[in-house]
Parts: sequence; C-alpha cells; structure tokens
Amino acid sequence: MDTRLSCELIAQSFALQPTGASARAQLYLAIRQAIIERRLEPGTALPPTRTLAAELALGRNTVVRAYDQLIVEGYLDSRVGSGTFVSDAVASTAPPQKPKRMVCARQEGLSRRGNRIAADALSSRVQTGAFMPGFPDVTHFPFATWRKLVAKQMRLEQRHLAQYGYGGYGPLKVVLAEYLRVTRMMACSPRQILILNGSHQAVDLCARMLADAGDVVWMEDPGYWGARNVMTATDLTIRPVAVDAQGINPGDADWESPPRMVFVSPSSQYPTGAVMSLERRLRLLEYAEKNRIWVIEDDYDNEIRYHPHPVASLFGLSAAQRVIYVGTFSKVMYPGLRLAYLVVPEDLVEAFTTGNAELYREGRMLEQAALAEFIDGGHFTAHIRRMRGIYEERRDRLVEVLRTHLDGVATPFGGSAGLHLPVRFEQPLDDVLLAAQALREGVVFRPLSMYSVAAENRLCGMNLGFAAVPVEQIEAPALKLVRLIEAESQRLRLRA
Ligand SMILES: Cc1ncc(COP(=O)(O)O)c(C=O)c1O
Repeated sequence: MDTRLSCELIAQSFALQPTGASARAQLYLAIRQAIIERRLEPGTALPPTRTLAAELALGRNTVVRAYDQLIVEGYLDSRVGSGTFVSDAVASTAPPQKPKRMVCARQEGLSRRGNRIAADALSSRVQTGAFMPGFPDVTHFPFATWRKLVAKQMRLEQRHLAQYGYGGYGPLKVVLAEYLRVTRMMACSPRQILILNGSHQAVDLCARMLADAGDVVWMEDPGYWGARNVMTATDLTIRPVAVDAQGINPGDADWESPPRMVFVSPSSQYPTGAVMSLERRLRLLEYAEKNRIWVIEDDYDNEIRYHPHPVASLFGLSAAQRVIYVGTFSKVMYPGLRLAYLVVPEDLVEAFTTGNAELYREGRMLEQAALAEFIDGGHFTAHIRRMRGIYEERRDRLVEVLRTHLDGVATPFGGSAGLHLPVRFEQPLDDVLLAAQALREGVVFRPLSMYSVAAENRLCGMNLGFAAVPVEQIEAPALKLVRLIEAESQRLRLRA
C-alpha cells in the first residue's frame, strides 16, 4: 500500500471518529483502530506528517504528537530517513477481530456495489504538483475572456438557460459538429451530439443504455481505470485485453467470444500513448459490424498533439455506425468545468437523449452557451494552439532530463500527444514503492503497474503528468526521481 492510500484510509477512519475528543486523540484513535483491524497492515508506510496534516486540515504538530504516541505504544516504527511504518510487532498480536476490508457503520449501510466502488477507487485528492498526471495548466486559461462570455449570458437573462437542457445547448452542438468535422473528420449532425457532465457520465450512459448486468466489455489493459470502474459499477464484466504499440491487441481467444462493448482510446491509448494502427482499426470495426457490438471511443486529449499529422477518429471510419464517440473539455478548457459530449450513431439519438434526461437531468446551460461562443469566436482553437506549444516545451524538457540521467534504466515512450509521459523501467524496479518514496519527497506520479488488471499485461514504470509544471520547474523534481530510481537500481545490482 502506498502512502497515498494509507493517507486516504486514515482520512476515512478519522472522519468516522466521534467528535468531542481533541483532534490529536481522534487521530490517534483513528490510526490505532485501522492498525488493530488490519486495514493498515504491518509494514505499511504512513503518510509524511506534513501530507497528512494538509489532508485533514490539522496542524502538523497534532499529527506528529499522534504518531509519537503510537510509536511509544509500539503500534508504529519510526525509521530514520525513510519514514514511519506500521510496526511488524502488530503482526504477532491477536488476529484482527474484523474482516480486513474496512467495516464500520457507514460501510455496513452500503450496497455490495457501493462497497466495491469504494474499494476499487483510484481517484486521488492530489490534483496538483509535479508530476500528477491528467491535469492541464489552468493558470494559462483565458479566464478574462471566459468571464466576459459567462457574464454576457447572465446579463441577457435568458430564461431558457435556467431550465433543464434537454440533450444540451443547441448552438453548442452546432459549433461542435463543425469543429469535429474539421478536426476529427467526423460527419455528424448536431442532433447526434449529447452534452454531459464529464466523460465518466458519458461512459456510464453508454454502459446503461447499451449493455445489461453481466455483459462483457473489453477494456484496454493497461487502460483508463476511471472508465473501468464506471463499467464495473454498472455491473458489467470487464475483460482486460492486451495493448501493444499499435493499440488494443485482442488475442485469438478474445476474438472468439464477442463482447457486448469494446472501450478504446485509439488516438492516444491511455496511458501508453500508442496510436491504434489502421489495420487494427479496420479489423475492430469489421468485427463490431459483424457481431453487432458497440465500440466506445475515448478521445480524451486528441487536441494536444505534438506532431503535425492529425489522427482521424474511429467514429469517422465506421461506415456501419458501431462507434460511440466520447469527447471532453476537461483537458483543453479545465477539468472543473465538467462538460463532455457523446456523439452517437443516428439510430441511438432518441434513446440516448431520453436516457440522459431520465437518468441525469442535464444542466449547466449557462456554461454551455458561453462555451458555444468561446468556440465560435476562435478562442478555443487559439487556446489549444498556445497550450500545445507550452506543453511541448515541458514534455521535451522532462524527456531530456530523464534521457540524460536514466539511459538504459528508464525510458520515456509514447508521449506524442497529451498531458502525460509514460516512462518504462528497463529493470525490475518496484514502481509502487518508488511512487511512495517519491511522494515522501513531494513528487507525485502514478505507477504504470496500477493501470493493469491482468498480471501478464502489467507494465512497470511511471506515468508522469508534466502539463501543469512550468518548464523551469521540471528539472528539480525530475532529478529527485532520477536519484530515487538510481538508488533502487543500485540496490538491485547489489542484491544480484
Ligand atoms: C483517458 C481519460 N479519459 C477520460 C478522462 C476523464 O475526463 P472527464 O474529466 O471528462 O471525466 C480522463 C481524465 O483524466 C482520462 O485520463
């Protein structure tokens, strides 16, 4: 368990403590309870006191004192230079009274599905800093222009913008259809576009409208855990399918039993960045048509591309209309906007529009109206063009530092698009352990191994989000990673 997980676990346990006692006592009890119930197992690294204090909005001293008390009582071990760990001595005490999974009043009230969602969660509260993947640099967003456009919609007192937005704001769908025609080679009418609150909701709608409980969905492995968790939460059966440099790569056994849906990110496979080859695209589309299955295309960051050749969408290639396209504004506008869209085949328009209204009740019309003008006025493409240059410089700097210092040990790959850089370890280093060590030094990354379900598909390395780190601030945290990796690599050599 890495320290981010232990941090979240302690935060959950802390939230459940009865109030009344001092914050230090509540924290002490929360950690002690988690240890006794083996939710924090012997050997688990605890978060640095500063991190936990920030997470719980407590003073650092409060956390230090709670840790100290637990050290004195033998629940925790402090190891100089490496942090605080759950004591191994706890392993020899009586076995846990309760099952290992967290069981408490709130959890007992949850459904099996609710428990699974909570147990499988990978979302992180850490959303900033080098090198948390997935986040754009919002400091460069033209908020002044955006504010004017939003204010204009408010000034107009357009009552219809205060209503539910059945299927989304019409003029936004018109400009979006034109934008997709030009940039993604997609011939679609505005009717085929549905505006939703983020890609997760879009995936959820697809899962609910196109599949039943127990139906199989192929998911790229490694792949986007967020979509995988949404699919699992709708009771679909995930079949992890391998990925290589040409994108999803189903084996003979996979092809033999058609799933109900296939989820892919063909423009830039997440997290490897592989662009799905034309041959694979055609084979998948032919298979989808023949077996009457659906392909969900996650086109989450196609706008940020560092080479001049546009990658066409799968949707645009599917003459038989078996593809549902998911686009998002999170990466090019800002994630908190929570606006994404689906483009569905003509035959699905009515059902999806109704399903969307029934399940979620659309809104955010004001933002949608402002966004329509933002795109129509050329601000959207201008912002993308500008950010592409900024991100490219940052990505190049990160690649340069890693190549200079880690040649033969860790190799950046993919990375011709998007906000993140996958880096593969060339030696059997433990990426989860390294992520925990890095976090202790204030550097965040997601271990590549966490993106896979099947052991045989597991990559080992780092997913580094460089987009929100100014170019002059890349070297220092990158060198921290270099040092940690070099030390691990050295340890490995000594052990051999
Ligand atoms: C591969 C991929 N798809 C989709 C999304 C989610 O986008 P949204 O913010 O629209 O839910 C993300 C977010 O990080 C992502 O990494």
